[in-house]
Amino acid sequence: METLLTADPKEAAAFIRRGGVVAFPTETVYGLGANVFDEAAVAKIFEAKRRPADNPLIAHIGDLSQLEVVSEEITEAARKLIEAFFPGPLTVVVKKSAHVPLIATAGLGTIGVRMPRHTLARAFLAECGTPVVAPSANLSGRPSPTTWQAVLEDLDGRIDCILQGDATEIGLESTVVDCTGAVPIVLRSGAIGVEELRRVLPEITIFAGDTKDSAASPGMRHKHYSPRARVVIVGDAGEAKGRENAAFIGLDARGVEFAKSAICASAEEYAHRLFAFFRECDLAGIDVIFCQRIDETGIGRALMDRVRRAAEG
Ligand code: TXA
Ligand code: MG
Repeated sequence: METLLTADPKEAAAFIRRGGVVAFPTETVYGLGANVFDEAAVAKIFEAKRRPADNPLIAHIGDLSQLEVVSEEITEAARKLIEAFFPGPLTVVVKKSAHVPLIATAGLGTIGVRMPRHTLARAFLAECGTPVVAPSANLSGRPSPTTWQAVLEDLDGRIDCILQGDATEIGLESTVVDCTGAVPIVLRSGAIGVEELRRVLPEITIFAGDTKDSAASPGMRHKHYSPRARVVIVGDAGEAKGRENAAFIGLDARGVEFAKSAICASAEEYAHRLFAFFRECDLAGIDVIFCQRIDETGIGRALMDRVRRAAEG
């Protein structure tokens, strides 16, 4: 199939209404969307990404009235989080409504719901007129795409359309919170830090099980975020051993030279650049990427989570 590139949300949404799959920007990463109620279209997402069928999708809503279309029994915890953080980089897991096909939730009775705050994403969702399920728009296992060019690199010829926006502002995926149990649990750290969540829900806990056999957080079982290059975590650029054909990303290289480097002024900038840097390094044929360890506060926790996964991959 030919993949159409467009900057027009109306043109992109027309594909969704016809049962197609469309990549679109959000404030976190680019998503690959389909009409949540169209089983054949949702199946195309799994096929295009080569995504394992046991990994559930997030439903993206354009306005709060769509919440009750995809979910039911909004718990107190979910309601508080929605009030505080929608629209924004937060996904709440709630009970799914009977209309949502099981293929979208990988057979689960629950569904992740998120309302992006990104202007173009919202214009697109409004034109779609239906909630849109969307995982990140990368081939499974690759770093999530933060530019439309990264989407094209992975999915050209495999999807109907790419809605072209700017590079995504945050660069890491949304925070996922399971709100279905007695105590809300952070399943995936993300742009919204635990400190911020605690201000709204002091009782919130962080998922601590062995993520490899967790049933609670299906996506965490799968290999993620891996560039082809080997990823090594260092405290400091001086610790980087074997700098030939090596790259460095972090806050301070202390004058150490690498074949490629990204020196970031803040944790936010580090998060914003990480996945794109992984992809650039792969295109440049880099063998090792040294990632500097940072404090796990705010977005630092999500950043280090992604870096560790990449290092394990
Ligand atoms: O920022 C984001 O969340 C991006 C943009 C496109 O919105 N989307 C994204 O989707 O990162 P994906 O599919 O790459 O990651 C979704 C995560 C997975 O870890 C998945 O297991 C978890 O959310 N998830 C989705 N539905 C769930 C459910 N019902 N129960 C538990 N975890 C769920
Ligand atoms: Mg993903």
